[in-house]
Amino acid sequence: MAETPKAAGVTRRDENAASTVHANRRWWDADADSYHATHGAFLGAADFVWSPERLRESDAHLLGDIAGTLVLEVGCGAAMCSRWLAEAGARPVAFDISAGMLRHAREGAANTGIAVPLVQADAQYLPFISGVFDIAFTAFGAVPFVADSARVMREVARVLRPGGRWVFSTTHPLRWSFPDDPGPAGLSATMPYWDRTPYVECAESGEATYVEHHRTLGDRVRELASAGFRLLDIVEPEWPAGHVEEWGQWSPLRGAILPGTAIYVCECPGARA
Ligand SMILES: C[S@@+](CC[C@H](N)C(=O)[O-])C[C@H]1O[C@@H](n2cnc3c(N)ncnc32)[C@H](O)[C@@H]1O
Repeated sequence: MAETPKAAGVTRRDENAASTVHANRRWWDADADSYHATHGAFLGAADFVWSPERLRESDAHLLGDIAGTLVLEVGCGAAMCSRWLAEAGARPVAFDISAGMLRHAREGAANTGIAVPLVQADAQYLPFISGVFDIAFTAFGAVPFVADSARVMREVARVLRPGGRWVFSTTHPLRWSFPDDPGPAGLSATMPYWDRTPYVECAESGEATYVEHHRTLGDRVRELASAGFRLLDIVEPEWPAGHVEEWGQWSPLRGAILPGTAIYVCECPGARA
């Protein structure tokens, strides 16, 4: 089992598109086994959960009517959402930058008998022709792990057909101001919300081993508008009563007070086919 890289240090500094992709691909490759050992049961083998608040697509219907649609899953990890979609009558294609995560996607297909086309790609440079997908989505994939998320929005807009839908969940931007701590320390704001300097974990050599980029709510809306999307909703799932399972910094304690997830529901202009 590959070991998740140990961070010798954590800092805030600029990281460009290439160094961000380099660090994060290696990090997700190395962390894939540990990630699925920790979160695999929560995520399920063929289930579609949008967020640590356990909002399911079967309850939320954020993708709209999926029967027969061609769906692109961005930053799919083990592609359990795509397998759920395939079972529900959609035609998903799933991609991720990490070979380690895609290995889990292949294992998921073997274990469930639900095969979904898998592609290794960077969300900033989609290897798909324009205007073909009815729906694109991601549950916490890719968007915060790239330096140029505006480019991701443009690429997704390019591969969607007119009227196509783009739905993606990410950490709620407000959380940037708070320490990544599920306990009481995670309730006090310590970082300026407007400071976009990336969060960087690095090795002793100083090389980045993990990078996260922050966008404010306004940044995100502007990225979407410039890519030509119409923003229909921003869903901020509430922490459900009785849900006690923590996921990293997401906990019942914080979930009762602060939003943890933002799900952006967008549409390309034009008639939906
Ligand atoms: C938190 S996981 C989410 C995956 C899956 N939806 C889940 O819930 O487990 C983030 C995923 O984004 C992928 N990712 C990171 N950077 C990416 C990029 N530039 N292009 C495509 N995928 C990327 C990672 O490899 C990882 O599988």
